[in-house]
Amino acid sequence: MSGTATTASQPVPEEALPETFHPDVAIVGLGYVGLPLAMTFADGGATVVGIDVDPSKPVLVRNGTSWIEDVPSEHVAGHVDAGRFLATTDFAAIREADAVIIAVPTPLNRNREPDLALVESATRSIAPHLQPGQLVVLESTTWPGTTREILQPILEQGAADGTPRVAGVDFHLAYSPERVDPGNATWNTKNTPKVVGGITEACTEKAAELYARAVDTVHTVSAPEAAELEKLFENIFRNVNIALVNELAMLCDRMGIDVWEVIDAAATKPFGFMKFTPGPGLGGHCIPIDPFYLSWKAREYDFSTEFIELAGKINSNMPYHCVRKVRDALDAHGKVLRGARVLVLGVAYKKDIVDYRESSAIKILELLQKRGADVVYHDPFVPEIEAGHGVEPPAAPANRSVDLDDAELARADVVMVVTDHTGIDWANVLDKAAVVVDFRNVYRDTPRSERLWKL
Ligand SMILES: NC(=O)c1ccc[n+]([C@@H]2O[C@H](COP(=O)([O-])OP(=O)(O)OC[C@H]3O[C@@H](n4cnc5c(N)ncnc54)[C@H](O)[C@@H]3O)[C@@H](O)[C@H]2O)c1
Repeated sequence: MSGTATTASQPVPEEALPETFHPDVAIVGLGYVGLPLAMTFADGGATVVGIDVDPSKPVLVRNGTSWIEDVPSEHVAGHVDAGRFLATTDFAAIREADAVIIAVPTPLNRNREPDLALVESATRSIAPHLQPGQLVVLESTTWPGTTREILQPILEQGAADGTPRVAGVDFHLAYSPERVDPGNATWNTKNTPKVVGGITEACTEKAAELYARAVDTVHTVSAPEAAELEKLFENIFRNVNIALVNELAMLCDRMGIDVWEVIDAAATKPFGFMKFTPGPGLGGHCIPIDPFYLSWKAREYDFSTEFIELAGKINSNMPYHCVRKVRDALDAHGKVLRGARVLVLGVAYKKDIVDYRESSAIKILELLQKRGADVVYHDPFVPEIEAGHGVEPPAAPANRSVDLDDAELARADVVMVVTDHTGIDWANVLDKAAVVVDFRNVYRDTPRSERLWKL
């Protein structure tokens, strides 16, 4: 077994799992959540099988290759070599495991409503293989009631021989939200406390025992609904506070007050204040999407979640505000946006990651193109913006990263700082560009000027 990457010219077919491989834990969905979780269980001494509908994943695992930035390939290769980790597309692999964890995507559909199709199909694929006494845990972020209303009936009625089963009696069922923060070097799956809530007390206990094998702290709640809602509350808390500070930024802009100075001053208060920073808008797979899972469910109870709606409105207005700011900066230099060369720096939704799902940068590129700007982007992590995961790539040439050389900087009428990647030579950007508009405060130590505009 080697740690070298698979190349397109040397495809390695998926192989059956060896008969000597006996997993303790099965993880369904090997993405940003599933792969780090698999590593954490394997680090804790468990034997883990990953199950993914994407056939490239088992092959990558066998080759000791990671596809998630926070997981080094050596980590995967080490566990594969030690016989503690393999992956497959075959759901029959769950049969020997004590526990099955589901970590598949929970997106919104075209009408911005929860789309649980992948959770449902994963559960349906598990059901015929479920064994007496096994524990199933859902980790995907979702509305309160999903584990009981969606998973429980599928698992109870989905036995291969058609015999009905009872959750809490014939098998165990629980919910435990994933809290992973991609790119966070301090807090990871192991040291971030894990919340668990089961359908019965015994289910909660089983789930708590499972996670105690791998994570430092487990916090139990009385029911899956509490665990499902606490996860949404965490993300809504971020969403609402980001909206609040974004609104403050737009007001400061009008009042001529430096919002960054105001935030830094407020953050000196050692209690009762938590620092959030404004930016070009929300992004990623969670914060912009999850709150709508709760708004949707709340409607069933004739309840309107006003904070969530308002925060969504303010945050989605930020790309428009950024484009207006760029237009103002050009205007101050006697130029118009139509026909101006605009260089956008960074399209990932946050720094030092490859993920651009829901990134406000994509909206900014689209708005600039619609307004007739000659727009290009540079992002060392995103060589190309590809369709999929709800992303509509902008028209060429704004769909491919350009080189960030001095000629490109000099050619731009304005440079927009949209994602503050650490690898970019920000001093050189400011040195060579005609005008820079900074939406991330990378130039915190340089005062605003005719050439340097800030949010
Ligand atoms: N990414 C994060 O930072 C994060 C943090 C906390 C919670 N979450 C939540 O965790 C869940 C998973 O998110 P993610 O970011 O890991 O997704 P992802 O897109 O990175 O990975 C999901 C994986 O599941 C696989 N998959 C899809 N349908 C499947 C099926 N029916 N059976 C088996 N595998 C299937 C996909 O091929 C993919 O490899 C979502 O509900 C998300 O909201 C994500």
